[in-house]
Amino acid sequence: MSRKAAKKAPAKRQTKKPATLLKVSGVKKSFEDSGKIIEVLKGADFEMPVSTSMSIMGASGSGKSTFLNTLCGLETIDEGTIKWRVEKEKPLQSISDFSTSELARLRGKFFGFIFQSYHLIPELNAIENVIISAKLVGRVSAETKNRAKTLMETVGLADRLKHPVQKLSGGERQRVAIARALINDPLVILADEPTGNLDEHTANEIMELLIKVCNESRGSLLLVTHNPDFAKLTEQEVHLQDGRFI
Ligand SMILES: Nc1ncnc2c1ncn2[C@@H]1O[C@H](COP(=O)(O)OP(=O)(O)OP(=O)(O)O)[C@@H](O)[C@H]1O
Ligand SMILES: [Mg+2]
Repeated sequence: MSRKAAKKAPAKRQTKKPATLLKVSGVKKSFEDSGKIIEVLKGADFEMPVSTSMSIMGASGSGKSTFLNTLCGLETIDEGTIKWRVEKEKPLQSISDFSTSELARLRGKFFGFIFQSYHLIPELNAIENVIISAKLVGRVSAETKNRAKTLMETVGLADRLKHPVQKLSGGERQRVAIARALINDPLVILADEPTGNLDEHTANEIMELLIKVCNESRGSLLLVTHNPDFAKLTEQEVHLQDGRFI
């Protein structure tokens, strides 16, 4: 382009699209059960920008949990690609390029997990359940222990630090799980029906807490829920139907 032309060109308006954090393209996943093939994901495409909250809705058995498991690399896929932006300045990377050990290490740093049935370790007390997630990615220091304590305070359990987890209520167990999910300062929290086992009042409290802690952290939230009111609390809703997102 000549200098003259360059001078005359109108200034382009900067409409910066937020960077993509997770990108899933054409993912297929089936299971074999007693010789029968169950096709669950049939070419799922999904994109999540950084620093956002999204919810996934869909009928029971539509593959929501399967999708989360494939997204974080816990479950292998038959076809397609899954990419993560593990660091802000780095481009998206296909998780098939990571070795098994690298994938496990990155998963522990990148994601925080919250499940319907809490998945706490019964032999450990409440705060030990939070610290264990840091230990699993090789992070244990006095600072980690202090952070675990602070997170227990954030989720309203400052007076239950050493409580056996079996003696906690369902809502309290999910609070411990939220603190555990946050301990490694993840980029994304994956929450699979986090209120599924709770009464309505406690479910509302837990959802409020989850949205609040995600807004306060630098992370994003990907929520699987059957509750349309909870889905509305997130910035974007997608539906999984017949193996694809609509
Ligand atoms: N390991 C497995 N082996 C065989 N079939 C499986 C396996 N995991 C999931 N499935 C099947 O895949 C389908 C999707 O299951 P998935 O748990 O992902 O559904 P979902 O949308 O999470 O359902 P819900 O809302 O009830 O939790 C179901 O039909 C299920 O039986
Ligand atoms: Mg499920």
